[in-house]
Amino acid sequence: MQRFLDLADHSRDEVIDLLALAQHLQVKPEPTALAGKILGLLFMNPSLRTLASFQAGMLRLGGQSFVITPGQGTWQVEMRSGAVMDGASAEHVREAIPVLASYCDALGIRAFADGKDLAMDLAETRFRMMASLCDKPFINMESAVNHPCQALADWKTMDDLGVPRRGKFVLSWVYHPRALPLAVPAATVHMAAQRGMEVVVLRPEGYALPDAVMQKAHAAAAASGGAVSETTDRRAALEGAHVIYAKEWGSPMHYGDAEAETRLRQPLGDWCVRESWFDQANRDCHFMHCLPVRRNVAVADEVLDGSRCRVIGEAANRMAVQMAVLYRLLKG
Ligand code: CP
Repeated sequence: MQRFLDLADHSRDEVIDLLALAQHLQVKPEPTALAGKILGLLFMNPSLRTLASFQAGMLRLGGQSFVITPGQGTWQVEMRSGAVMDGASAEHVREAIPVLASYCDALGIRAFADGKDLAMDLAETRFRMMASLCDKPFINMESAVNHPCQALADWKTMDDLGVPRRGKFVLSWVYHPRALPLAVPAATVHMAAQRGMEVVVLRPEGYALPDAVMQKAHAAAAASGGAVSETTDRRAALEGAHVIYAKEWGSPMHYGDAEAETRLRQPLGDWCVRESWFDQANRDCHFMHCLPVRRNVAVADEVLDGSRCRVIGEAANRMAVQMAVLYRLLKG
């Protein structure tokens, strides 16, 4: 494996192999496996889990890492192609990425969606340009419409919990004060489809995921024997659910138009997951969210503090699966 950009680049069997390696490394740690190796981490956007779990995972395998957060002790970095750099940015990714790659054995980059042009973000135009500048093993730590490390950790979390392969997985839109990127919902719907689940995307009018995202999930479901559908009917969606996965995202209908988006979401404050959402669900239904989460805005305390909540396990699994990814990239 040379790159970890998208779970869709890997067959279901390859993903299962990575998950088995993650499990193996949890049970039988290899504290010198990556001795002498260096991981570079470039964060164009904030993080808690991704930053800490990659650093901790690399240390647990005997390697080292360095972190660059442009503008915080380093130059501000420009990502736009053709930009006239007469503003705050003193350095372009065209130089910064090859320079950083020359110092390390693998490089991870986080660069969220630009949030202005949906077609450009769906095509991952900027992230693909940045990936092309790196001649070392490369990791997507969240791009415009993908978060493969989160998706892999969520798959492992469901395996750990014994969620049936054909179980019902409900990805539900939840409220947030502003429009958030499509990366996690897009990665999540694909992951659950690739796992072979009955996937239902539950969302209010105006928040349908883009066709390209749904088509990719449908293709994964066709290959795995799963199914994907979407609805605005909360009661029907939650009926018999094995997993309710909550996520906030912005309306693709008003992409890049914050005012119109705010008007659309203003009356949707009741899209906050409460215990009553589980009334029609499977008795053992689990609650999942990638974090960070706004308590009592997206998800009520009673759910986050309740016995169904798996958010800490999901976050813990970030380190486990990323150790497997690093192992495959750097050791084979
Ligand atoms: N879920 C996730 O990627 O968390 P961070 O944004 O804190 O890295």
